[in-house]
Amino acid sequence: MKGAIHPLLLQKGTMIVSAKLQLIKDRRSIRAYTGEQVQERDLQAILEAAMYAPSPGGSQPWFFTVIQNRELIKELSEASKEVARNKDIEFLKALGNNPEFHAFHNAPTVIIVSGDAREPFATAACAAATQNMLLAAEFLGLGACWVNFGLLVFEGYKGDIYREKLGIPGGYKPLFSVTLGYRRGDKPQAAPRKSNIVNYIR
Ligand SMILES: Cc1cc2nc3c(=O)[nH]c(=O)nc-3n(C[C@H](O)[C@H](O)[C@H](O)COP(=O)(O)O)c2cc1C
Repeated sequence: MKGAIHPLLLQKGTMIVSAKLQLIKDRRSIRAYTGEQVQERDLQAILEAAMYAPSPGGSQPWFFTVIQNRELIKELSEASKEVARNKDIEFLKALGNNPEFHAFHNAPTVIIVSGDAREPFATAACAAATQNMLLAAEFLGLGACWVNFGLLVFEGYKGDIYREKLGIPGGYKPLFSVTLGYRRGDKPQAAPRKSNIVNYIR
């Protein structure tokens, strides 16, 4: 269409800035996916985005585990639900007892982000890497969701079994995970933003 600017095209001038900032606001947690597997080039771009996150002193204290085996993803979900059922927190218990609930939302790809326990602030760096993946997924037109429920498995008696099965290196702690796939259905609306949360001292 004449005069229309594709949102993914880089243009000179202020349009570039606004399109990039809009991307951040447009990202939503996606919890319904088509059956299609993530394309390899998209997966690699998302992982690379993670690896370019800031880290203390450039320590890059992360390790990424990409799981594209649906049975294994389901196993991790079920093992996490088992742990959730034994928690004292009501909403976790309820999810653990819900036969319909899949901790990774039936996504075809899950990436677990583990942090080097010897590095100070590894958790913060891994959180930055996780957010980079969500933004990269949005940019590439994929759906993604930050998922911590699915890591409850590592708190239970099966934790070490799965740590070994997944090849998570010794000294690294699974901290966050991201589901990836192609969105099925509409994108959810963003919740209204809180106000009165900025103090300016000038
Ligand atoms: C640390 C953290 C843990 C989260 N864990 C889960 C999770 O286990 N399952 C899930 O569906 N969403 C999870 N989320 C996603 C939030 O529910 C989501 O970001 C929030 O509802 C706001 O929605 P939005 O991402 O669309 O803006 C998590 C987000 C963060 C930052």
